[in-house]
Amino acid sequence: MIRLEGVTRRYGGEVAVDNLSLEVADGEVCVLIGPSGCGKTTTLRMINRLIDPTSGHILVNGRDVMSMRPEELRRGLGYVIQSIGLFPHLTVEQNIGVVPHLLGWEKSRIAERASELLVLVGLDPAGHLGKYPRQLSGGEAQRVGVARALAADPPVLLMDEPFGAVDPLNRERLQAEFGRIQRELHKTVIFVTHDIDEAIRLADKLAIMRDGTLQQFASPEEVLNHPANKFVHDFVGADRALKRLVRVRVEDVMRSPAIVREGAEEIAYRVAAGRRRFVYVIDVNGKLLGWVDTDDITPDTNLTDAMTLIDATEASVRVDASLRDALSRMLGLGFRAIAVTDEHSRLVGEVTFTAVEGAMTEGDEHISNIAEEDAG
Ligand SMILES: Nc1ncnc2c1ncn2[C@@H]1O[C@H](COP(=O)(O)OP(=O)(O)OP(=O)(O)O)[C@@H](O)[C@H]1O
Ligand SMILES: [Mg+2]
Repeated sequence: MIRLEGVTRRYGGEVAVDNLSLEVADGEVCVLIGPSGCGKTTTLRMINRLIDPTSGHILVNGRDVMSMRPEELRRGLGYVIQSIGLFPHLTVEQNIGVVPHLLGWEKSRIAERASELLVLVGLDPAGHLGKYPRQLSGGEAQRVGVARALAADPPVLLMDEPFGAVDPLNRERLQAEFGRIQRELHKTVIFVTHDIDEAIRLADKLAIMRDGTLQQFASPEEVLNHPANKFVHDFVGADRALKRLVRVRVEDVMRSPAIVREGAEEIAYRVAAGRRRFVYVIDVNGKLLGWVDTDDITPDTNLTDAMTLIDATEASVRVDASLRDALSRMLGLGFRAIAVTDEHSRLVGEVTFTAVEGAMTEGDEHISNIAEEDAG
């Protein structure tokens, strides 16, 4: 657990962090977000004791960091610094191995760990282990920085814009990977970002800062549905409804679809068609083969011929996808419903546009009240 109690840091007369209190439970991801200069990096550096607070207390697992030796403290904290900060005279492998080396790991174990971590962050070990930082692109260096922070498997991670220099495609991949790792390893994480979408996607708790002060500290749902003030309201942006969809999983809103098996009698189609607009066709293993859009048929249509064959990876969403993914897939295909499949392409449900709409508008009443209060 990490706990900040009334932490203030001044530089000369200027207050960089002002009376900040927050608590991050074990296994939780707290995302610090706010405009440039609001005190995010300063906060991380105080937790890590790279700088000391002017006043207040910081506790890591119940111990005041000021009472710990910095080396001891830092061994339990993986730190990804904003400017990446790889050692220029060390190779990628040596950079990743810095802490394991200090901990006295065998060379072979360090090499193995370095390879494993490069794969995890999406870099080919063969091509990168022997490189020096100057031979890496900004995004590659950043991913090596993440690998380095994870190297000795610390229980706590402090990550300062870890994906800031990575292109959007790899960034999404890394975010998904981060979510997956986190569900498995349950690290206690403080994650700094400028990207509100990234924050909403990854956070258990959002800490929104402005000029060194905490504006709201709450779950993303709470922030989206009940922004604490005008600043938070505006910071989150006008597309709150779309952002909410990132937090909802397809499996939470899907319904059971109308299904027929491949080669079924005409009557089975007719019965299914009476229930739903889309009748999905599956094979003996439950794999999605296609569908019939019953709006396109007349009483004379031979329904088995009316089936549209599909590529399930293109025309369905995975059960663990977000509603935002489902919506963008529906819009791309021009459908008002989409099939939901599991990892073996088996049909498990259907999500409708109406269900997506419902999830989007939840909490809107309160929002319009805030906007009006602020305007008045
Ligand atoms: N060593 C320093 N000396 C004087 N002022 C500093 C120092 N380090 C930071 N500051 C000031 O403290 C404030 C907070 O800086 P900090 O680096 O924490 O911001 P940040 O939220 O991480 O911003 P960014 O999003 O741009 O990284 C800024 O106004 C900055 O100018
Ligand atoms: Mg910073």
